[in-house]
Amino acid sequence: MAALVLLLFLFSLELSSCSAQQKTFIFLVDEHSKPSVFSSHQLWYTSAFIHPTRMVQVYDTAFHGFAARLAADEAAEIGEHPAILVVLEDQPRQLHTTRSPQFLGLSNRRGLWSDSDYGSDAIIGVLDTGIWPERRSFADHNMGPIPARWKGECETGPGFTTAHCNRKLIGARFFARGYEATAGAVNDTAEFRSPRDADGHGSHTASTAAGRYVFQANMSGYASGIARGVAPKGRLAVYKVCWKAGCFDSDILAAFDRAIADGVDVISVSIGGGSVPYYLDCIALGSFGATAKGVFVASSAGNDGPTGLSVTNLAPWLTTVGAGSIDRNFPADVTLGNGKTLHGVSLYSGSSLAGKMYPVVYPGKAGGLSTALCMDNSLSPGAVKGKIVVCDRGNNPRVAKGLVVKNAGGVGMILANAASNGEGLVGDAHLLPACTVGADEGEAIKSYISSANNPIATLGFKGTVLGVKPAPVVASFSARGPNGQTPEILKPDLVAPGVNILAAWTDAVGPTGLSSDFRKTEFNILSGTSMACPHVAGAAALLKGAHPGWSPAAIRSALMTTATVTDNRGQSMTDESTQKPSNPFDYGAGHVELDRAMDPGLIYDITTEDYVNFLCAIKYSPKAIQVITRKSVSCPRRISGPESLNYPSIMAFMEGNRSGYLRKVFLRTATNVGATVSTYRVSVTMPAKGIAVSVKPSTLVFTGLGQKQSYAVTVVADRRSFMSGGGGSAFGYMVWSDGKHEVRSPIVVALTQSVGD
Ligand SMILES: *[C@@H]1O[C@H](CO)[C@@H](O)[C@H](O)[C@H]1NC(C)=O
Ligand SMILES: *[C@@H]1O[C@H](CO)[C@@H](O)[C@H](O)[C@H]1NC(C)=O
Ligand SMILES: *[C@@H]1O[C@H](CO)[C@@H](O)[C@H](O)[C@H]1NC(C)=O
Repeated sequence: MAALVLLLFLFSLELSSCSAQQKTFIFLVDEHSKPSVFSSHQLWYTSAFIHPTRMVQVYDTAFHGFAARLAADEAAEIGEHPAILVVLEDQPRQLHTTRSPQFLGLSNRRGLWSDSDYGSDAIIGVLDTGIWPERRSFADHNMGPIPARWKGECETGPGFTTAHCNRKLIGARFFARGYEATAGAVNDTAEFRSPRDADGHGSHTASTAAGRYVFQANMSGYASGIARGVAPKGRLAVYKVCWKAGCFDSDILAAFDRAIADGVDVISVSIGGGSVPYYLDCIALGSFGATAKGVFVASSAGNDGPTGLSVTNLAPWLTTVGAGSIDRNFPADVTLGNGKTLHGVSLYSGSSLAGKMYPVVYPGKAGGLSTALCMDNSLSPGAVKGKIVVCDRGNNPRVAKGLVVKNAGGVGMILANAASNGEGLVGDAHLLPACTVGADEGEAIKSYISSANNPIATLGFKGTVLGVKPAPVVASFSARGPNGQTPEILKPDLVAPGVNILAAWTDAVGPTGLSSDFRKTEFNILSGTSMACPHVAGAAALLKGAHPGWSPAAIRSALMTTATVTDNRGQSMTDESTQKPSNPFDYGAGHVELDRAMDPGLIYDITTEDYVNFLCAIKYSPKAIQVITRKSVSCPRRISGPESLNYPSIMAFMEGNRSGYLRKVFLRTATNVGATVSTYRVSVTMPAKGIAVSVKPSTLVFTGLGQKQSYAVTVVADRRSFMSGGGGSAFGYMVWSDGKHEVRSPIVVALTQSVGD
């Protein structure tokens, strides 16, 4: 009888461990709970919680814990153990690229930076798809020895040997265990189980952050000139966490853990997804560990703009970067049989239509949604052969639509924005002559097609145009605030170039990323907040080089308080989606101005303890806080609100009712990093009816470097008066000036409806 019971027990164990219901779970563990009999945390985990064969990752630097393959009920059972702080189900995240090729060269007026050796010892860790190490952007000529403190490695595998690392690319690792546990073994035919980049995204972001000067750079003739990263002398360490089917949390956490232990100064992570509490968000968890060790983390805001509340990577210790345009464009025209010409963009580089008119059709008018979108197998050759085909943007990749048209025998494509894309244009290196047009132009073309007897059209390509005005413009796709987790913290923090960025590419795939695109290109032109993020990572490396003692918060403060909100016409930066002035929900503090960030005058610093107080203020439980901080904390009994975090922006998120006066006080502490003796005076601009902002004291006198002075900002809102002026959110700013420096903070006032309204 006993034997039978045992057998049954074994059988049920077997069943559960082999069942298809197994998933990867991440367990974060209270490191201090380890019984002393275990010599290491790993030994403790494999003895107390999980069989070694089911272990996927072990985390032992920035945080403690492990990832393992388990059935949900097994995971829940382990989660009951008092030492387990949180159990997270592993999930894939996506890269924040729009796969749109257009290019933007980093403006070369930064003489101060490019001539200097700033950043030459700063190490940037890039969590992405790996690297194509042979690119000229990653050459190490004239670079000094690798910083002695570096503890990273050059991991090897298919297509990658230690010889691929050099004094520029000083580290390369890959993290596949979490991916393989869920998505199956890495397919060696399609990608490399090594740091080598089969996708291109990682080579692009790494070279944007810290690529060397490369002369005669271009993509099929577009955007030709000098390509360079923001910190051309910075060192790169790549951490490959993204594979064909996505980037898994368990691997991202492992990469943060390694990068911090290896000794990076800056991390660039152009990955994200969703808005979840910080203790359930692996990028927030990994980056807290990084920030606590002095490592600056730049993250992408996401590409789900222009919808409000779309911004991701929301934790206040992250620097969250949206995308702006540069002053370069790739115009292309659609000329219709009625003589009208409509303007769009393109990065098509093959033989042109040479002004010849072709029949133009919009098969989606009669054919339904999948035909309108030019999805796979949706176009009948009979209907499109020898014609220019109008396809609607959305759903499948833009370049894939071109391929569908081409395979059905079409001679060209007009890609029309959906109404939700507005006039925001992204060019692509299409495989056939193609032009992207805005929603209005698309409508004009469709109405011409349905009204003309024999509708005809041609496409013309104009190459690269520089000096485009206005620029920067906040890209339509750039994700917008407010912050869905903690509305008291304004996100995104700032914007950086993220439209039409030319940077290094892989040889493993053509510029469209389609498997049928066999073109090879040293550079590619892409758009996305993925492209904006490494600009800020490179900028942080330069700032770290110039000011080695600055904390991540100090670096972010310098970038934010010196950012610009005007464009190259000297007017308010516009929003591509509306063509109207944009606001801090679109751009945070504004567009990065690197040379000014070098000398910000004052900074707003934040310590790890301040972040802990912030977590108390947003009323996370002690256990949830410990998941993030890895230390048990006891929150003070009286704690000021989350808005008292010493952030460089002021977000007055006010609840109340229609008749009340609402009042909120923000305490800020500025640290002098400018002139030893200086006097700063404040000015406030808040052009909103019913909102009054006062600052006390209004003068700050500093008599030494590193000296701190505090002040209070009081925002008072007369709700009725504000609502009668239109309501919504109000935007203004505060500037501290000593006559030389201008330290600017956006002020946003948002009144929320309360019960009874
Ligand atoms: C691996 O990739 C190749 C090339 O893309 C593909 O033909 C093959 O079917 C893939 N194998 C598996 C097992 O997915
Ligand atoms: C464009 O790139 C190609 C390939 O790298 C190179 O041969 C050519 O000289 C470049 N053209 C310009 C104008 O820089
Ligand atoms: C509205 O505000 C007034 C004044 O502050 C207060 O007396 C009243 O109780 C509030 N009403 C509600 C429904 O919150």
